Amino acid sequence: RTLGIIFGGKSSEHEVSLQSAKNVYDAVDKEKYDVVLIGIDKEGKWHLNDTGNYLMNGDDPKRIALNKSNKGIAVVPGESEDQFIEKSSASALEQLDVVFPILHGPLGEDGTMQGMLKLAGLPFVGPDVLGSAVSMDKDVAKRLLKDAGLTVADSITLKKHKKDTVSFEEVEGKLGLPVFIKPANQGSSVGVSRAGTKEEYTKGIETAFRFDNKLIIESAVKGREIECAILGNEEPLASGVGEILPQGDFYSYEAKYIDEKGALLQVPASLSEEMIKKVQEEAVKAFEALECEGMARVDFFLKDNNELVINEINTIPGFTKISMYPKLWDLEGISYPKLIDKLIELAIE
Ligand code: DAL
Ligand code: MG
Repeated sequence: RTLGIIFGGKSSEHEVSLQSAKNVYDAVDKEKYDVVLIGIDKEGKWHLNDTGNYLMNGDDPKRIALNKSNKGIAVVPGESEDQFIEKSSASALEQLDVVFPILHGPLGEDGTMQGMLKLAGLPFVGPDVLGSAVSMDKDVAKRLLKDAGLTVADSITLKKHKKDTVSFEEVEGKLGLPVFIKPANQGSSVGVSRAGTKEEYTKGIETAFRFDNKLIIESAVKGREIECAILGNEEPLASGVGEILPQGDFYSYEAKYIDEKGALLQVPASLSEEMIKKVQEEAVKAFEALECEGMARVDFFLKDNNELVINEINTIPGFTKISMYPKLWDLEGISYPKLIDKLIELAIE
């Protein structure tokens, strides 16, 4: 069978996707699948390379992420861009049996790619169109999570064309300070600011609107950052629980991927059996409330009073070397290659 790995993409998580794709590619059973790598550059052009090994050669994923062509997709040193055949999306898909879209953020994780693959009749890893779309949009996701009886942080949604309808004073009155300002549709904390003053608030709003026409202003939740991985379709399984120990202000993009000392991962998190069970139950509930399938990682805050607050759900979680999703399954005895195999099986079933 032929497996397509689609990676890169136009979103600001392009570089993260390159790192994830490298790890997914390395972990695929090449006896079982012929792999076709399909890179989408930052302009949205598709590049097909069927030699099957241009990301790879045991290179350091960080170097690959940085060592990108001016168009934004990874090119191994020494290989020229001529080796990438520019293809229309349709002809790149013709030869495939199943797809692993390892794209993060808008135009990849948000249901658009999923819709196209579905239309092309191709099974793919991860949630379907609806689950991908509602999970990507932090405003819609929060409403569905609340509706399912889950706790989310208080927030105000702001659309660009109505941006002057809410004042800083109103925000402070309703949410307290500091607040987090987040583009509604982004990942990896891109465009996210923490604001404790009016000046920071104004700047934060401007920043977030650079990435989306809708943003959410959220009250800051004080608590431990914990994450749980979900795997499965109708009977989704929850992994053990991991904890992020950010070393800076918050678990920012820099802390995630650039600054090696930016955050520490503790797997498993030190929690009571009872709390682990509660996290797992709520993670599955969130997965189901957001119509997810295949995989997702659910991120929580655990407050001092033991209350769990759902921060968000990621339908194509990171598969980088520092990423929590594969680490959590590894702890359950599902190694990286086994996990990738299972995810592809779940796509086909
Ligand atoms: N959005 C990044 C890839 C994550 O959630 O892991
Ligand atoms: Mg996310």
